[in-house]
Amino acid sequence: MLKKLFSREEIDKAVKRLASQIETDYDDEKIVFICLLKGSFMFTSDLIRKIHNPSRVDFLRVSSYGSGKDTKGKVTITKDIEEGIEGENVIIVEDIIDSGLTLTRVRDMLQDRKPKSLKICALLDKRTRRKIEIEGDYVGFTLEDGFVVGYGIDFAEMYRNLPDIFVVVGD
Ligand code: IMP
Ligand code: MG
Repeated sequence: MLKKLFSREEIDKAVKRLASQIETDYDDEKIVFICLLKGSFMFTSDLIRKIHNPSRVDFLRVSSYGSGKDTKGKVTITKDIEEGIEGENVIIVEDIIDSGLTLTRVRDMLQDRKPKSLKICALLDKRTRRKIEIEGDYVGFTLEDGFVVGYGIDFAEMYRNLPDIFVVVGD
């Protein structure tokens, strides 16, 4: 069963807040947004439309083994970004930080390519579930626990199309 957690209006408000924080921090500098597929496609498209800096967007897809509700340690790149990021201000746009394993791997991999700066923008942060220490620089909502879907976020590839965010109740 799905229970609504954040409405589209609440999401829009959070995205506006993140966009204005980013605009303030980056002044008029160029930004390269890296959208982590698939979960953050909707978030990324809403976020970047609210930011007026000269920008690029690129897409990265990683898979963490296992199709259950937990990341299994090993993270591999299944689709790399297509342009270089050396000397660029890069912001990784992620749907959810959970154990932190995915973002740690992605951040380290991108850091090796020598960006000028590298930050993380996450819509949702399950802070209490970290297995490895990593912080989002820009965070929309903090969640205690629970498995969420909607607004690009899936469970077994379903529910990405829902415009609001729901928590899955029961099995
Ligand atoms: P981490 O490596 O454990 O931090 O996992 C992060 C990834 O797991 C996110 O990018 C999501 O794709 C997925 N994930 C974590 N929590 C949820 C959830 O509640 N719903 C859907 N996907 C989730
Ligand atoms: Mg994901």
